[in-house]
Amino acid sequence: VAAQEVVKVGLILPMTGPFASTGRQVSAGAKTFIETHGDTVAGKKIELIIRDDAGVADQTRRIAQELVVNDGAKVLAGFGLTPLAMSVAPVATQAKVPAIVMAAGTASITKASPFITRTSGTLPQYSLPVGTWAAQNGIKNVVTLVSDYGPGIDAEKWFTKEFKAKGGEVTEAVRVPLQNPDFAPFLQRVRDAKPDAVFVFLPSGVGSLFMKQFSERGLADAGIKLIATGDVTDDDILNSMGKPSIGTITGHFYATAHDSPENKAYVEAFKKANDNMRPNFMSVGGYDGMALIYAALEKTKGDASGPAFMEAVKGLSWTSPRGPVSIDPETRDIIQNIYMREVKEVDGELQNVEFQTFEALKDPEKAEA
Ligand code: DHB
Repeated sequence: VAAQEVVKVGLILPMTGPFASTGRQVSAGAKTFIETHGDTVAGKKIELIIRDDAGVADQTRRIAQELVVNDGAKVLAGFGLTPLAMSVAPVATQAKVPAIVMAAGTASITKASPFITRTSGTLPQYSLPVGTWAAQNGIKNVVTLVSDYGPGIDAEKWFTKEFKAKGGEVTEAVRVPLQNPDFAPFLQRVRDAKPDAVFVFLPSGVGSLFMKQFSERGLADAGIKLIATGDVTDDDILNSMGKPSIGTITGHFYATAHDSPENKAYVEAFKKANDNMRPNFMSVGGYDGMALIYAALEKTKGDASGPAFMEAVKGLSWTSPRGPVSIDPETRDIIQNIYMREVKEVDGELQNVEFQTFEALKDPEKAEA
């Protein structure tokens, strides 16, 4: 019997460093897909090779090159932060190797190479509905606070555009460094200015520090509401944020508490395989990235060559733990529901509880162009 042909998938993630929680969640989500669906598709055995880039873009690119040239990886995936995803675009284009973005969220990433597709989401896609919600719920003036890089700029732009279009006013727009941000001067100023709300984007894992300082500096007590993208109330760390996070309103594509049979099965399988760790949106990006790889290979009958794979990706649709999703054939970005959620205590745990759905949203940044 001939040895079964193997398709190697190179998963490049920050497994160490300040964004290690992203790597831990994405890789666990990808593994959960393989555990629950088997390691074979269209006659090919899927082999995951997980590599740590420590969140450094030069490493991501070097590892991508090595995986393709030395290890014979047919698909690249992962990419925990926007600069890491961007650094791989030239490798994907030159080698004609598909790159599946499972985590990063800046809209422009999928424009950087025709071999890039995405199973996370874009910041414009899930910031815009927060602007709609705020304008429709009595919030008149807002101060924005974002991390000063791609996804933060996208979040600021699309929250503001939508909120203003619906009659709101943004009185100040603050950007903080991605690494070691200090929120104190900002929080002091905002408490004095007393806007109705603060809109925040910070990458996964950073929200706890912000929540602690927001509460300690008395902004909630001063009647200033916290609204954000769901990255801030990341389910990985939400329980540790404690009572000050209760009432925070966010928009995002996934909550552990999402009520569907697919999600119940996912959360159960994930927790069982990961020492009861709670799956967050990053894990679902990893899980669905594998779902996309399996569905594309089924469509090509096991042909993993870049052009055939990318053709197969366009228009794929499936039911994710987050709800129905599909791949926009024009942009290779994911079309998905965005949910408005409120942090609530449920059975002694803090949860992002969904209360409103914006259905089947495309990335608005590309619709605009
Ligand atoms: C990005 C990183 C995150 O941790 C996140 O929650 C959203 C976006 C990024 O770098 O694109």
